[in-house]
Amino acid sequence: MELLDAMEERKSCRAFRPEAPNHETLVAVLQSAARAPSAVNLQPWRVWVGQGEELTRLKRALHRAYREQNIGCSPGGGRKAPPEADGGPGSFRDLGRVVEARGDAFGAFINEGSCNLYGAPVGIFCFTEPGEPVARRLDCGIWLAYLLLGAHARGLATCPVGLLADYQDVVKDALFVPENHEFACAVALGYARADDPVNSFACPRKGIDGVEWV
Ligand SMILES: Cc1cc2nc3c(=O)[nH]c(=O)nc-3n(C[C@H](O)[C@H](O)[C@H](O)COP(=O)(O)O)c2cc1C
Repeated sequence: MELLDAMEERKSCRAFRPEAPNHETLVAVLQSAARAPSAVNLQPWRVWVGQGEELTRLKRALHRAYREQNIGCSPGGGRKAPPEADGGPGSFRDLGRVVEARGDAFGAFINEGSCNLYGAPVGIFCFTEPGEPVARRLDCGIWLAYLLLGAHARGLATCPVGLLADYQDVVKDALFVPENHEFACAVALGYARADDPVNSFACPRKGIDGVEWV
């Protein structure tokens, strides 16, 4: 697949089929992500892949933690979702309409769905080692982009799941991640349910209207 096509086509999947990609495909996707550039080539990402019963256990623990703490998706940094989001999370207001049209409450769909990785059979979790400055998370963000595109190019579907930053202790506990590591990002990965209307939704973009040409 051409890179530019992958960049145009990729979108977040929020309904996955249960079957897992084979191991070779997962390795290939991770190798694509490992090609990401990073400052001084530090490659600060430390990656855990959760599958099978271990992932099921983690999803259950995340669900319990969400029920207890009720921390949902938000833009982070204490910011609220923008007013045009109809009270729903961030930039995907119109997704709320698709979700509500099929009878689900949007907040529950996004927050419980994120904790369940939307049913994905594989969860990929990226952490940085202790003492890494916050600037190293930028490298992890680029790693994330490479992962998403590398997965898409191989016919896989993904959804980044930043909400798990608020439940990172649960993730660490389930996946045996050293306590002093810092969560950078998580990704739900698998095959998309083609028949689910939530997967037909494509988030619009601002485009380049705000770019200042000097
Ligand atoms: C760092 C990051 C964290 C995200 N966290 C979540 C999340 O917790 N739950 C979720 O459903 N989507 C999450 N998303 C997906 C975004 O909502 C999505 O990328 C955005 O709405 C644009 O849609 P698209 O990916 O379909 O193009 C996250 C995306 C990024 C880049």
